Amino acid sequence: MGKLTAPAIRARKVSDGAEPLVMVTAYDAPGARVASQAGADLILVGDSLAMVVLGYDDTLQVTVDDMAHHTAAVARARPAAHIVADLPWMSYHVSAEETVRNAAVLVRAGAQSVKLEGGRKRLPMIERICDAEIPVMGHIGLTPQSVHAMGGFKVQGRQAEAARRLVQAAKSLAHAGCYSIVLEGVPVQVAEMVTDAVDIPTIGIGAGPHCDGQVLVFHDLLGLETRLAPKFVRRYAELDALATDALRRFAEDVRSGAFPSPQESYHLSETELAALGIPEF
Ligand code: KIV
Repeated sequence: MGKLTAPAIRARKVSDGAEPLVMVTAYDAPGARVASQAGADLILVGDSLAMVVLGYDDTLQVTVDDMAHHTAAVARARPAAHIVADLPWMSYHVSAEETVRNAAVLVRAGAQSVKLEGGRKRLPMIERICDAEIPVMGHIGLTPQSVHAMGGFKVQGRQAEAARRLVQAAKSLAHAGCYSIVLEGVPVQVAEMVTDAVDIPTIGIGAGPHCDGQVLVFHDLLGLETRLAPKFVRRYAELDALATDALRRFAEDVRSGAFPSPQESYHLSETELAALGIPEF
């Protein structure tokens, strides 16, 4: 089966009988290969890169160049999944020209679409990117790039008025041309209201089961990121423990002389040994 295109993703509403969309983040070629082999529909080269790969405390530290570098690495794995790349903070806030140029950098690096955070304030930029024929995924609710404005990574839409604003924001994003929307960190009922209100798919993270798809961060679901464990993360593996154990056994083998074995080493032929005057052993 070929890659899912943005128009094909746009049509994937569970209420119309579609299967839920599966999205996972990846930031390099091995991660993209694993996601593709596992049958993910979309790979998100997320700006969570900053936190889970580059070790920062928030997502504000990555640049368009960082995102392009990692998008290109993902694309070189030629995954079967649709690649969507995050526009990082301040890459779509200054001017429409800069925004469109930055989106184009990510497409040239190998993305088939871009994602940006925010509601109604972002409509002009979304329209300009769509005008440049680049599909846009929206992202509302808990938007990590607004960490300082929100006063932390906090669940959004807990009050009735805030929930109504999220529904309005989703409708405006759909109207502006987004082909799907990530809904992050909102109560289950709010995610359901938003999902019912728009005819484009919602992809949830910490937004309950009523979205049209789900996304998790690669390092969270594989247990490679162990510092934080938000309640919405389900760990499908404990790779941090597995990798630590493997490296510990490697260290023991090196220190005891058990690694490398003769089978793991290259040897001179008998003739060359004789020519060098080295006795066989
Ligand atoms: O950057 C990211 O990983 C994201 C997901 C949390 C949706 O935006």
